Amino acid sequence: MDQKNRPRRLRSNPVLRKMVRETRMDKSSLIYPMFIIEGENIKEEISSMPGQYRYSIDRMGEKLEELSDTGVSSVMFFGIPEHKDEIGSMAYARDGIVQKAFEKAKKEYPDFYLIGDVCMCEYTSHGHCGILCGRDVDNDKTLEYLAKTAVSQVQAGADMVAPSDMMDGRVAAIRKALDQNGFLHTPVMAYSAKFASSFYGPFRDAADSAPAFGDRKTYQMDFHNRREAVKEALLDVGEGADIVMVKPAMAYADLICEIKESVNIPVAAYSVSGEYAMVKAAAQAGWIEEEKILCEMAVSAYRAGADIYITYFAKELAGCMDRGVIG
Ligand code: PBG
Repeated sequence: MDQKNRPRRLRSNPVLRKMVRETRMDKSSLIYPMFIIEGENIKEEISSMPGQYRYSIDRMGEKLEELSDTGVSSVMFFGIPEHKDEIGSMAYARDGIVQKAFEKAKKEYPDFYLIGDVCMCEYTSHGHCGILCGRDVDNDKTLEYLAKTAVSQVQAGADMVAPSDMMDGRVAAIRKALDQNGFLHTPVMAYSAKFASSFYGPFRDAADSAPAFGDRKTYQMDFHNRREAVKEALLDVGEGADIVMVKPAMAYADLICEIKESVNIPVAAYSVSGEYAMVKAAAQAGWIEEEKILCEMAVSAYRAGADIYITYFAKELAGCMDRGVIG
């Protein structure tokens, strides 16, 4: 048969298949999200996220060592405070849970790159991501609190801050506050296209941060929208974001792709708790092969354009990269 084009030629040999791969990944682009809880000697499994734990500060080193053994050197801390109130005081307290964790991690694990998730929902008694005015979150009032939170995290040792609240103008407010405090070189990774998603369900168990009433639809994005996601990313770039993020990842690859084409800064994708939980549950039931699925999910995010991948599977992925399963 006279066929000039035979795409199968490039698939005929494993060395060649690897040579012509279009997506290449590196462990340095992985970020591991980690839950830190008040108390002592705690390593408790999160029931909706098998294999993920809440660590007290005295035991978080166990996880950091595991990660560094596999070559993962960036972590994002989420704090679970003992005390919650209307204005989320422990989000920006000098002795808040993440502040203490950053302080210790910076001192004892100086090679790690430490990122702070900046939001109020784990710290407010009502579970919303900002300061309430009636039953809605007061945008502009919340900005002051987010800025304070970001500064307190950086003062404690965070190398980067990542606002996840979705208030308008938060990147500018945080940038200004960091600069005023002399942190001109601390980058802001904005959760720019963060959708009101049911994929966060297990996280809210993990961090005890479900809203006490209503939902997050007045601040997180409607998942029917594509152009609005680009608008959010461009606004954040304009406000001084250094990295923009799309979240969740798996069901939002179109937006990773679109935002990658629209901005000229790095794009992160956050594979969230629900993605993790679904893989774990199906694997435990024997319905899918966990490792192959997590690799495919990661590659799809990078293929769509992600430069950075935030995932609870960071350690497993690093292992797969080492073994050449992907990468
Ligand atoms: C805080 C925050 C959430 C996640 C990251 N930061 C929860 C939410 O917005 O309800 C979700 C992460 C995950 O599901 O893994 N606002």
